[in-house]
Amino acid sequence: MMEPLRIAVIGAGAMGQGHCASIGRVPELRLTAVCDTHEDTVQAVGARFDVPAFTDVDALLSAGCADAVLVAVPHPLHAMITLPCMAAGLHVLCEKPLAETVSAADAMLASAREHGVAFAVMFQRRFDPAMRAAIAFARDGGIGPILRTALVVPEFRAQYYFDSNPWRATWRGEGGGVLLNQAAHLLDIFALVGGLPSSLYGRAETRLHDIEVEDTAEALLRYPDGGSGYIHCSTVEPPDGGVLEVIGERGAVRCRGGRLRMLRYPEGVGKFARAASEVWAKPPVEEISDSAVNEAPKQSLVLKNFARHILHGEPLWCDAASGLASLELANAITLSGTTGREVALPVDRAAYDALLAELREKSTYRKREMAAVRVTDPKLV
Ligand SMILES: NC(=O)c1ccc[n+]([C@@H]2O[C@H](COP(=O)([O-])OP(=O)(O)OC[C@H]3O[C@@H](n4cnc5c(N)ncnc54)[C@H](O)[C@@H]3O)[C@@H](O)[C@H]2O)c1
Repeated sequence: MMEPLRIAVIGAGAMGQGHCASIGRVPELRLTAVCDTHEDTVQAVGARFDVPAFTDVDALLSAGCADAVLVAVPHPLHAMITLPCMAAGLHVLCEKPLAETVSAADAMLASAREHGVAFAVMFQRRFDPAMRAAIAFARDGGIGPILRTALVVPEFRAQYYFDSNPWRATWRGEGGGVLLNQAAHLLDIFALVGGLPSSLYGRAETRLHDIEVEDTAEALLRYPDGGSGYIHCSTVEPPDGGVLEVIGERGAVRCRGGRLRMLRYPEGVGKFARAASEVWAKPPVEEISDSAVNEAPKQSLVLKNFARHILHGEPLWCDAASGLASLELANAITLSGTTGREVALPVDRAAYDALLAELREKSTYRKREMAAVRVTDPKLV
């Protein structure tokens, strides 16, 4: 494939416009088109970046002007946009979350395999060097069987944020709340470092905002080896970086107060507990690293890696298959919170699809009328 890789952005809203700017900073990529169903928006963005503008995906595909697409439409539309692009042989970088349901994400992953195209997800926090090291530490067996985990994600949003776009925070338009959207990045890192629990009890509620979906969610987790964990995420609490802790038999990742520490328990916690012959014995702890967390790594890092993967075979750091885990957690907590029952993971696809269909069907919620505001979060580009 020729360098630079030709990429089109589908969904020229808040995030899509940021991506158009980021692409210009990646030498391996060239923006060749934008596509958005909102005519005025797509014409303005096309003119700003000096590329052709399309109002539907079929026309974009027929033009044959791209080797890859970046999908930045609302998440319930990710699958219906991604599938025809993959069928046309285009590589896909999809915004997070992959979709609003695990079943839709499964279909996207199957299509990528069937058509032999690269498929990545925009989880830019994986590029923070501290998080990257923690993921590698866990992958290389540094943590071992889980003893305890904790994830606290305070991702404050004002009511204006939810009002600023008709699709946001509704079952029909978004398909979920903080679990699906604002907490997705840290749920992703949490699942990569600690793995998925085997089951959970969840609770989801709407506390502060006038929205239809949850702005607060929590869960008690059970891991395959018997370890336990806790998740709390919300858009009601002022941000402070939160907490991400994964404590295992052989080591730990402890992230709080904007710092991430990695620890090793060289003798193994359980082994030490059984073997120690002193009353007040404590397991030895080796500190491996203590580094500052970067909460907003630039999305151009994901774009560059995606392009270099296709062009030069560089390992894909945000592969979509691994991005499914955060969606498993989000869907599982919603399912458990709604049914009041413990939910096993992987999530029962049919049960979750039925639940979301029912929530959408029974919805009587009416959003405040307001024209859509497409403003990119400045810390991302
Ligand atoms: N990675 C991150 O940190 C991050 C940050 C913000 C948003 N996002 C994700 O980006 C996605 C978009 O969010 P946003 O805030 O940009 O929303 P937005 O509403 O500002 O933009 C979405 C755009 O998609 C367009 N659109 C809708 N249906 C379409 C279709 N069928 N074909 C083409 N265009 C269509 C809309 O007209 C709109 O311009 C979401 O999935 C969101 O979770 C990710």
